Amino acid sequence: MNEVVTNEAVLRLNHTNPQILQFSDLHLSERDELMGINCDESFAAVKALAAQYHQISVTLLTGDISQDNSETSYRKCAEIFRNSPHPVAWITGNHDDVAMQQQFLNQGAISTTKRIVFRHWQLLLLNSQVAGKVFGEINQDQLQSIKQAAIDYPDHHLMLVMHHHPVPMNSEWIDNHRLMNQAQLWQVVSEVPQVKSIIFGHVHQEVNLIKNDVRVLGVPSTSVQFTPNVDEFNVDTQQPGFRFLELLANGKIKTKVHRVKDGKFVADFDPNGY
Ligand SMILES: [Fe+2]
Repeated sequence: MNEVVTNEAVLRLNHTNPQILQFSDLHLSERDELMGINCDESFAAVKALAAQYHQISVTLLTGDISQDNSETSYRKCAEIFRNSPHPVAWITGNHDDVAMQQQFLNQGAISTTKRIVFRHWQLLLLNSQVAGKVFGEINQDQLQSIKQAAIDYPDHHLMLVMHHHPVPMNSEWIDNHRLMNQAQLWQVVSEVPQVKSIIFGHVHQEVNLIKNDVRVLGVPSTSVQFTPNVDEFNVDTQQPGFRFLELLANGKIKTKVHRVKDGKFVADFDPNGY
């Protein structure tokens, strides 16, 4: 289910160089575990690592917050973030249930906002979920909302936030689960020079490249990692992590991925696990 973002409340934060935390693919559930990793514990370890940053403007949760669509999984997320000292915004992944997200992830610091406007940047949070599918798509209304965002704030740099990957990953199995209308998205982006960056989750690995002058950034999961550049699904021994971003007034981005150090979160390979 895609949602229209144009009527969502705008969160305005007049910060000049906003600092952002991105957590993705938490895969929380009633069972706690995914392929042998306790996702509650791995997320807690990642979140503790992020405590080194003290000037955060906003935290973004970029989808697959839940593994099993359980009320428990969203309650866990709400419990963790509702008392955050700064706003927390989220998007929907292929595993998520939008109605439950709206119900449970709308309290305290956590809101349903899909548009965040800073002094020099704006963030547009898009829903790339296609109901019942692992692959994704940005629907026409949302493609239009990208153009509209730039019309509304022509002097702001624009960052698009989505769950599915907007570029090929050189990995056949995950590319079958990509954003299916990548070409349409890039066509729109080519018409909207304000777009300086696209960030996403879903691929459970780090991505950092530039395409058509746009900074394209993927992030490790806070739980299980996927092995890059392989055609068949496999799990990686790299540790869970998050991305820190600082959005500069000139449209550039400072960013760093941090991973848990002690090596204790290693998934068991399960071909049916994802
Ligand atoms: Fe995921």
